Amino acid sequence: MRARILKQDLNHDFAERMKALGTETAFEVLAAARRLEAQGRNIVHLEIGEPDFATPPHIIEAAVRALHEGYTHYTPAPGLPQAREAVAAYVAQTRGIPVTDEQVVLVPGSKNILLFALLALVDPGDEVIYPDPGYPIYESLARFVGAKLRPIRLREQNDFRFDRDEFRALVNERTRLVILNTPHNPCGSVLEQEDLETIAEALAPTRAYVLSDEIYSRIQYEGTAKSIAAVPGMQERTIILDGLSKAYAMTGWRLGYGVMNPALAAHMSRLMINSSSCAAAFTQMAAIAALTGPQDSVDAMVREFRARRDLIVRELNSIEGVSCRMPKGAFYALANVHHIDPNAKQLSTFLMEEGGLACLPGTAFGEGGRGYLRFSYANSQENIREGMRRMQAALKSYLVTA
Ligand SMILES: Cc1ncc(COP(=O)(O)O)c(C=O)c1O
Repeated sequence: MRARILKQDLNHDFAERMKALGTETAFEVLAAARRLEAQGRNIVHLEIGEPDFATPPHIIEAAVRALHEGYTHYTPAPGLPQAREAVAAYVAQTRGIPVTDEQVVLVPGSKNILLFALLALVDPGDEVIYPDPGYPIYESLARFVGAKLRPIRLREQNDFRFDRDEFRALVNERTRLVILNTPHNPCGSVLEQEDLETIAEALAPTRAYVLSDEIYSRIQYEGTAKSIAAVPGMQERTIILDGLSKAYAMTGWRLGYGVMNPALAAHMSRLMINSSSCAAAFTQMAAIAALTGPQDSVDAMVREFRARRDLIVRELNSIEGVSCRMPKGAFYALANVHHIDPNAKQLSTFLMEEGGLACLPGTAFGEGGRGYLRFSYANSQENIREGMRRMQAALKSYLVTA
């Protein structure tokens, strides 16, 4: 009897802070889809944001070689010197800014850079500005560290970029961190030079840092991605977040990195010592191969993403009641379904359970996503066509009951 009570208490007695932590709906929808598949259902997966391509062979070979050569031990917390050097050279070249090794911290997945930036910079009550709709981990972790949440709405009529006056009005002396994401998940929008300059100007009199999430920087369909770190005066207060997951189809390898001023990098290194110790040694060697080796597989992948983007946007716009803007980057299409279901949560559940199509409700990305569905087109053209066919068929019997 006593043992049972104890077990029950243990099961319900968690730290208060856990109540603040959110989640990433994509992983939950994927798990629900897998459960349906285990029951024999066939599901088209347009929910999860990971390239369906294989990691390029020369990167795999570099990792295997590294394992044989003994890269199977701890490395320095911020990464092997040669890996930090490769990242520094890559970021300097792609962003057009000077970067030295001591500005680089390698981590097991770029999400860690977000967590570490919040832990190192934000005290309870400090304000954090982040996009809404936006990657849900921004809000979840900002809330977790006790920040005052300051979402900024991205509206479709504004091409899912911020309204510059709204941004200026949100900035004040308590603003500590501004999170940017370009190209953007889930909207597919990109920040233009004038947006970056407005942000830089508004932040100049403050002590705010910028976390510039550039994980999709290689997947932009027109022009090259711009980093706020290259705007004069901004590099010192900018943390670039990037990694191998998306550009090199390496989500399972868990390797990301941050580039920031050396003082902040030293704090992030201590956070690494206190958490993972270091990123896996052989994945760091694979990162060197990825960043310094041939880039043709990235180009081929982006060409295929472009064809899929054109296909899914065309298909979505041909469905009655659905409209979708042409995304400029990343591999997501955010479709407006207000006319079918002003909330869209119920609709996304219906599409999976009745239609066999997994996608995400826009509200998984914040209030600003109400009335939208997000489709990841990191899937074959054949599956995208099938998914759209299923959506069209399922909508015939859909009734909003909420
Ligand atoms: C906007 C954005 N940032 C960061 C990440 C995290 O990527 P990873 O931890 O695999 O480097 C993701 C993954 O989906 C993302 O969409």
